[in-house]
Amino acid sequence: MANLHVIDHPLIQHKLSIIRDQNTGPKEFRELLEEVSMLMAYEVTRNLPVEEIEVETPVATAQCRTMNTKIAVVPILRAGLGMVGGILKLIPTAKVGHIGVYRDPESLQPVEYYCKLPVDITDRELILLDPMLATGGSAVAGIQFLKQRGASQIRLVCLIAAPEGIKNVQDRHPDVDIYVAAVDECLNSHGYIIPGLGDAGDRLFGTK
Ligand code: PRP
Ligand code: URA
Repeated sequence: MANLHVIDHPLIQHKLSIIRDQNTGPKEFRELLEEVSMLMAYEVTRNLPVEEIEVETPVATAQCRTMNTKIAVVPILRAGLGMVGGILKLIPTAKVGHIGVYRDPESLQPVEYYCKLPVDITDRELILLDPMLATGGSAVAGIQFLKQRGASQIRLVCLIAAPEGIKNVQDRHPDVDIYVAAVDECLNSHGYIIPGLGDAGDRLFGTK
């Protein structure tokens, strides 16, 4: 599909294989998720506009290009938090919003509980972060949050996606570009991505 970008760089795939491993503990999981997010940011920002400028070097004038786009990164709590640091390393001027959505374990429906965004989000390119795109309910709700507050330029960045979640986002928000490091096989009966990596929030914060 036109708006799905699978970033299959060897560095990302290598690190993802360690992240998936059930023997990888929270410390390494956090470090690797941050590193992979930083590497993904390189591709996610590839087609942002640049402006021609002149820079005086010690010996001559150089024709250069600079980025003036205002960006905000918006993690979906909790697990999206693990991706923020890596993106900010590459885009330190980005503002950060937060959206709280959890998935009801019985119905698998998203429950919204928090939203705090930069006041000027209508002027910003938004990068919505969540490592897991399972049914897609949380991402669809998160994108809806942003659109209701006037955002129009939204990119969704996930580590692992299920085909079901990709289809859900594409059906509901066909204008949103989706960036993932892997498209997995399917969901199990509890809505977990197979093979996936388990519960991203629990693995990130050591809560189970
Ligand atoms: C996880 C994950 C996504 C969501 C994906 O969060 O971080 O937000 O599930 O599932 P979906 O695509 O079916 O909506 P969870 O609900 O476990 O909340 P948590 O991050 O607070 O643990
Ligand atoms: N949320 C997760 O953290 N993992 C999954 O596999 C599905 C939803």
